[in-house]
Amino acid sequence: MVELYREPQGDWKWWYEARFGMFIHWGLYALAARHEWVKNRERMTDEEYQKYFDHFYPDLYDPRAWARAAKEAGMKYFVITTKHHEGFCLWDSKYTDYKVTNTPYGKDVLRPMVEAFREEGLRVGFYYSLLDWHHPEFPVDRHHPMRDNPEFREKNKQRDVRKYAEYVRNQVRELLTEFGQIDLIFYDFSYPGEDGKGRDDWQSEELLKLTRELQPNILINDRLDLLDVPGGWDYRTPEQIVVQEWPKIDGKPVLWETCQTFSGSWGYYRDEETWKSVEQLVQMLIDTVSKGGNLLLNVGPTARGTFDDRAMERLQGIGEWMKYHSRSIYGCTQAPKEFTAPQDCRLTYNPETKRLYVHVFAWPFRYLPISGLAGRIEYAQLLNDASEIHFFEGTAEYLAHWGGLSQGTVILELPVKKPNVTVPVIELYLK
Ligand code: GLC
Repeated sequence: MVELYREPQGDWKWWYEARFGMFIHWGLYALAARHEWVKNRERMTDEEYQKYFDHFYPDLYDPRAWARAAKEAGMKYFVITTKHHEGFCLWDSKYTDYKVTNTPYGKDVLRPMVEAFREEGLRVGFYYSLLDWHHPEFPVDRHHPMRDNPEFREKNKQRDVRKYAEYVRNQVRELLTEFGQIDLIFYDFSYPGEDGKGRDDWQSEELLKLTRELQPNILINDRLDLLDVPGGWDYRTPEQIVVQEWPKIDGKPVLWETCQTFSGSWGYYRDEETWKSVEQLVQMLIDTVSKGGNLLLNVGPTARGTFDDRAMERLQGIGEWMKYHSRSIYGCTQAPKEFTAPQDCRLTYNPETKRLYVHVFAWPFRYLPISGLAGRIEYAQLLNDASEIHFFEGTAEYLAHWGGLSQGTVILELPVKKPNVTVPVIELYLK
């Protein structure tokens, strides 16, 4: 096991091995269908936004179908927005009327979701927004939809963030006591400084303590503005970027998970067209694991309660690849330093089975040299069909002939035709 910067307090081994989860952003913004920040972007008042609440009726909602789609894509856990920045709650909270049970739909959607995903064997994570653009005690700040409305600001300047922080704790207590074991919590997010909010506003340390008290094994993300507090976070969350290497603090690796969207929005966005291809997504998953991280891939369900075909197509495409290649993902991590990835390749490594996986992003012509492996390979095969791959070690003279290959390099002999899978993987059994 890797030596981490700091041993997390929560139960992290399952998560470190799972590597792949589903994020779900679902709320009233699904009806607007133009980004989950629509209330902020269009500076909508509560009254203007109310139409989405009044028309929330996801008649096709079937959480078992969601859970199946996640499982078939190869995901091992899910994280659901119990409340996003808009303030709308997916469960029957005692502390607000702004909740799903008061919409025309009239039913809790969170409990059946948790049950359905658990039944499919996935772990449960809750996302909870620290921001709340509906709560009457949430002071208007630079992200608030009413930020440019001086009258509104003036009229609401008595808002008391301490009362809001208490509301947060009350809700978190509900979420962490009424739904059984919660494996992970994703607080989102802090923006300290001018006209912003941070740990003093959320009373983050108290919230952290409460969270660990109620669910001692829970994993907590890093957005409570407690980066410098020991135990203030368990894992880092680089978002919508591809990191160049395993994130570190003081030179030591930290647990990390990158959250990513299929397109440019977390909530359902009808007209957004920048959808990533299955290949890009599979490569993203591999790249993440090759740097020791997890991928949390987001779906924004529609207001009918379904995953749309663009999302389903990608989930199925990833699932098709995972069906044959999950062995190079689950339980895998960054390869030991002595192995260097060949050109256009990513390595992952399973320390338990001592197998090294070479993911080939661009299929080369016949030969794939890989350094540092002379005398180390017991057997090699393509993962998709377990067909043998021959390999040989060249003499120094022979290697020089290839240009720049160093002693200790092994050459894998590949078929000329690329195997018919999104990203071919060569499985190396090490001695
Ligand atoms: C950002 C956005 C938010 C999204 C989150 C996911 O913080 O505010 O809309 O839920 O990223 O990590």
